[in-house]
Amino acid sequence: MTTAALTESNVATGVSGPLLADAEFKFLRDFVYQHCGIALGEQKHQLVQGRLQRRLRALGLKEFGSYCQLLRTDPEGELGELASAISTNVTSFFREMHHYDLLVSELLPRWLEEKKHNGRLRIWSAGCSTGEEPYALAMVLAEALERTGSSVDARILATDLSPQALEQARAGLYALERMDGVSDERRRKWFLRGEGRYEGYACVHPRLRELVTIQPLNLLHDWPMRGPFDAIFCRNVVIYFDKPTKQRLFERYAGLLEQGGYLFLGHSESMYGLSDSFELVGRTVYRKCTR
Ligand SMILES: C[S@@+](CC[C@H](N)C(=O)[O-])C[C@H]1O[C@@H](n2cnc3c(N)ncnc32)[C@H](O)[C@@H]1O
Repeated sequence: MTTAALTESNVATGVSGPLLADAEFKFLRDFVYQHCGIALGEQKHQLVQGRLQRRLRALGLKEFGSYCQLLRTDPEGELGELASAISTNVTSFFREMHHYDLLVSELLPRWLEEKKHNGRLRIWSAGCSTGEEPYALAMVLAEALERTGSSVDARILATDLSPQALEQARAGLYALERMDGVSDERRRKWFLRGEGRYEGYACVHPRLRELVTIQPLNLLHDWPMRGPFDAIFCRNVVIYFDKPTKQRLFERYAGLLEQGGYLFLGHSESMYGLSDSFELVGRTVYRKCTR
């Protein structure tokens, strides 16, 4: 396509910025599927174009051809940014509260009792985005440890593909207006109120940070950790994955969970017809079958 044609069609479509040709869209679809497991339908052409125009601007690139070339030469370097641009990092503290209720009322007291003699407790927040999920898990875990006076070795692993999301998770700094899910009592106990240039923000308390390890991880790649985990939270992540990718992922989760360990999915996700390794035991809560 010539520059003139590009400009004309930009005017015609009201789009400013470079246009994504069909062949480039196909390349991006294949790339994103192969590297992130995200299955983009044909109808996402405009959306991908719009979301990536911002990324091209940030990189100082004038056309999508150059961006595709960048992906060919440095696929790993750009993957996180690409995934962030086309998927969503939306999250919040205590999202899907019923999962935390189950932890507080049943699972944490049981695990801490079972593990009180030299046991270890491990929870993985897989697809943790900007950190609200693992820090909310850390709050209920820290409170359970305090309540029971337990000295169990308990930790939370938080992983994500997106470098920007992980940067925010590591900073642990949240705008007060994004903390609706956190009660006043918990705000006082687990956050430090920002002052001066941090007015309007709250920072995660070091006692919570100690419980959380934040690491980059693409769920489609090899995993360095050996487990076993007592629970895996993979919520609102597999929504973008196609059936074979979900099936493989759930089998890998089963391999890393304790017998009877728990897998928590997001509100619109299901394991129905995808795995025999789990049984449904609550609202989007699955338990690894004991065999
Ligand atoms: C909508 S957020 C969910 C955050 C949190 N789990 C929740 O439910 O609030 C989805 C996250 O999944 C991450 N993600 C998507 N594909 C991934 C992959 N292949 N490997 C690791 N993380 C991925 C995205 O970067 C994003 O931060």
